[in-house]
Amino acid sequence: MNTDLSARIRHPALLDRVTTPAAAAALIKDGMVVGMSGFTKAGDAKAVPVAMAERAATDPFRITLITGASLGHDIDRMLTEAHVLARRMPFQADPTLRKAINRGEVMFIDQHLSETVEHLRSRQLGPIDYAIIEAAAITEDGGIIPTTSIGNSASFAILAQKVIVEINLSQPLGLDGLHDIYIPSKRPTRAPIPLMACDSRVGTRYVQIPPEKIAAIVITNEIDSASTILPADGETDAIAHHLIAFLESEVAQGRLNLTLQPLQAGIGTIANSVLRGLADGPFHHLRLYSEVLQDSAFDLFDAGKLTFASASSITLSAPCAERVFGNFERYKDKLVLRPQEISNHPEIIRRLGIIGINTALEFDIYGNVNSTHVDGTMMMNGIGGSGDFARNASLSIFVTKSLAKDGAISSVVPMVSHVDHTEHDVDILVTEVGLADLRELAPRERARLIIDNCVHPSYRAQLDDYFTRACARGGHTPHLLEEAFSWHIRRKATGSMRV
Ligand code: COA
Repeated sequence: MNTDLSARIRHPALLDRVTTPAAAAALIKDGMVVGMSGFTKAGDAKAVPVAMAERAATDPFRITLITGASLGHDIDRMLTEAHVLARRMPFQADPTLRKAINRGEVMFIDQHLSETVEHLRSRQLGPIDYAIIEAAAITEDGGIIPTTSIGNSASFAILAQKVIVEINLSQPLGLDGLHDIYIPSKRPTRAPIPLMACDSRVGTRYVQIPPEKIAAIVITNEIDSASTILPADGETDAIAHHLIAFLESEVAQGRLNLTLQPLQAGIGTIANSVLRGLADGPFHHLRLYSEVLQDSAFDLFDAGKLTFASASSITLSAPCAERVFGNFERYKDKLVLRPQEISNHPEIIRRLGIIGINTALEFDIYGNVNSTHVDGTMMMNGIGGSGDFARNASLSIFVTKSLAKDGAISSVVPMVSHVDHTEHDVDILVTEVGLADLRELAPRERARLIIDNCVHPSYRAQLDDYFTRACARGGHTPHLLEEAFSWHIRRKATGSMRV
């Protein structure tokens, strides 16, 4: 055993559990429920799931796979192609898995990310047979030090019958101390979560489980998959510009000050670009209480705008990962990673008055938002944490480009084809065209503002015509039900929503 491994597996008795990925994968049996680390490509198990996919070629088996969120390293693709996935939850972002879900081959349970472990704890879900968790190290007393995400890993390890640990030698030992593992007590007598600020530390630095639960340890040496977000463009810059102007006006009216309130920004290209755009505003001493830290968080740190960031994972492009993990000590005392039920906890989001910025696929004239289903039918990724934040944020903001697919799709439609966030949970809508502040407005007022401020000019007359005729028919929330989905139907039939 080399010194390096002893530094990584500090509980001497556990050195004997080191085995091959294939031997660890052989422990997973048909019908099992498996909880696996990984959150937006960060901190995922990298070797055992590959060995599971390989094994399934000659020894078919199917499992329920629960993770924190999406995985990297094409793990979801490999497991899908090997027909290992019977059920998958609570989030994914893999094109191959997405197709299998939409063919009805994999049963996908699209869940608020804060809720999965509550369901496990109350036995509405599970039990978990095996947890497969990536770790930077195992402590002297058998504690698991996670890597670049926590997600649901802590509760998976605590609740599982047995645990397989992947020690990843490429993950720096300096990650020790980054995490704050807090597990809420039992309901209905749960105490308030004592987290009073973004930088509060209320838990332990590692996941404590009985060492005898660790059935196997596998050594890996592969870095996290890089994020694939695209750079900012004219439209995302315009969205950021509208948002900055809005936040400045909130400051001018005394509702916020220049440090704002803790910010959350969703996944993807648009949210990343918009958050980075805040660097150009007059704001300072910003704090993030978010779910995923993308490149934008570190751009804000480097611009001297951000003082602290709390999240459940760090998912970066390759150059940004080099910049951050190559100088980790520069950022470490300004960061904390928490279990996703804490990063996304309604109690904390309300308490801290989070400003939530999430991305819509489409929204309608009354402010209902669809973040998940294309044409109301085809799953994109999942609701993720957007619902946790939108429902509980002090300001719930949704951003999107006004057009998709080269203008064939208007992101503002008469009625969304699927609702993830109802009009009751949406305060501000922003496209590159402009911003609609929906607070304290009745549905007809909201529709007027959305059509005037957010719709692409090439669709405005069409949407105005729909709204005018709907109003003539009457109602609190006027609609022409026989036409409400005609835009989506037209696109299917003709390739474009345009009349
Ligand atoms: N109809 C059909 N497709 C649409 C669309 C619409 N109304 N609006 C956008 N799209 C397509 C885009 O064309 C693009 O397709 P492509 O991948 O083939 O190029 C794809 O959706 C992604 O859109 P993009 O504009 O690149 O935005 P994004 O990378 O910021 O992702 C979401 C947007 C909505 C898919 C993504 O943010 C998401 O999955 N959100 C839900 C989960 C969430 O919010 N989690 C965060 C909580 S912390």
